[in-house]
Amino acid sequence: MTDKTTMRILSGIQPSGVLHIGNYFGMMRPAIALQAEGEALYFIADYHALTSVRDPEVLRTNSRRVALDFLACGLDPQRATLFRHSDVPQVTELAWILSTVAPMGLLERAHSYKDKLARGMAATVGLFNYPVLMAADILIYDSDVVPVGKDQKQHIEMTRDLAVKMNETFGQIFKLPEARIQPATETVPGIDGQKMSKSYGNNIDIFGDEKETRKRVMSIVTDSTPIEAPKDLERSTIVELYSLFASKDELANMCDRFKKGGTGYGDFKKELFQKLWEYFTPMRKRREEILRDKSYIDNVLARGAERANEIAHEVMQRVRKAVGLR
Ligand code: AMP
Ligand code: TRP
Repeated sequence: MTDKTTMRILSGIQPSGVLHIGNYFGMMRPAIALQAEGEALYFIADYHALTSVRDPEVLRTNSRRVALDFLACGLDPQRATLFRHSDVPQVTELAWILSTVAPMGLLERAHSYKDKLARGMAATVGLFNYPVLMAADILIYDSDVVPVGKDQKQHIEMTRDLAVKMNETFGQIFKLPEARIQPATETVPGIDGQKMSKSYGNNIDIFGDEKETRKRVMSIVTDSTPIEAPKDLERSTIVELYSLFASKDELANMCDRFKKGGTGYGDFKKELFQKLWEYFTPMRKRREEILRDKSYIDNVLARGAERANEIAHEVMQRVRKAVGLR
């Protein structure tokens, strides 16, 4: 058992595709840094991914791959609990209970739902209820802190609203969790300058192969300023991405050369690729090592499921009692 004062940190990531550097800087790196500061629980949100992935093999493969990539990036299973969402099925029971107090209007205001419909996804009940399941994910572990990218901010606010509603209706059941968003990396741009996202096709993957990664970096959209002319630093995706990988001095040097003129965008992109590739080299090595041990991932996930169920079970007993079940 954990001591009651230990900060509990929780986050999830959908296995709906391959992880990209927006996921890494927005959520994974901050989550990995937090694993030293309390009890961290990170999960692969396969129940959530069912709202968009319709191929069972793809879902299974992606789930393992997300676990592998997260471990390769530094998630330490000795310190943090890594598990599959669907290994804690009680979370769907809590989602049902929360849905009975969730105002329709609250869900109708969800940006993420509206964005998904605007991108052509079918309006299913699951997609609409997504924030309720996400609230259950967070509340079922008595979470204090939730490291996420900015796009998830509203979901955490909705979680707090639902927790307050439950506490007002049934007495003090839930803690109010807080989003932890890193201002410097809250929205990592993709190669077209929009938010990086697998669904926009503008992603640079963490573990893409060298040729593909170079190609993606070289196709970052720029304006048509000629080589010799000074370049606009303000909205440059190249500079923004470079700042994620470079030291202060290296960044200042690139900014100077941007302002001075005389260097083409192609050269800046090559420098960015080089930094990016070097940054993930130790993680690629670790990934190879993990892959050599066939049972490593399954063992980590099995242990994770055990610990996550232990906490969820305790919290659900409290919830069932409070609402009058059993
Ligand atoms: P998802 O891929 O939607 O499951 O996102 C997983 C995590 O990565 C969430 O915490 C997101 O907020 C974060 N994330 C995704 N894309 C970006 C981005 N372009 N910039 C910063 N964070 C991101
Ligand atoms: N909705 C999040 C995303 O798309 C993933 C997620 C599901 C999550 N449940 C969560 C994140 C609970 C933090 C806490 O990125």
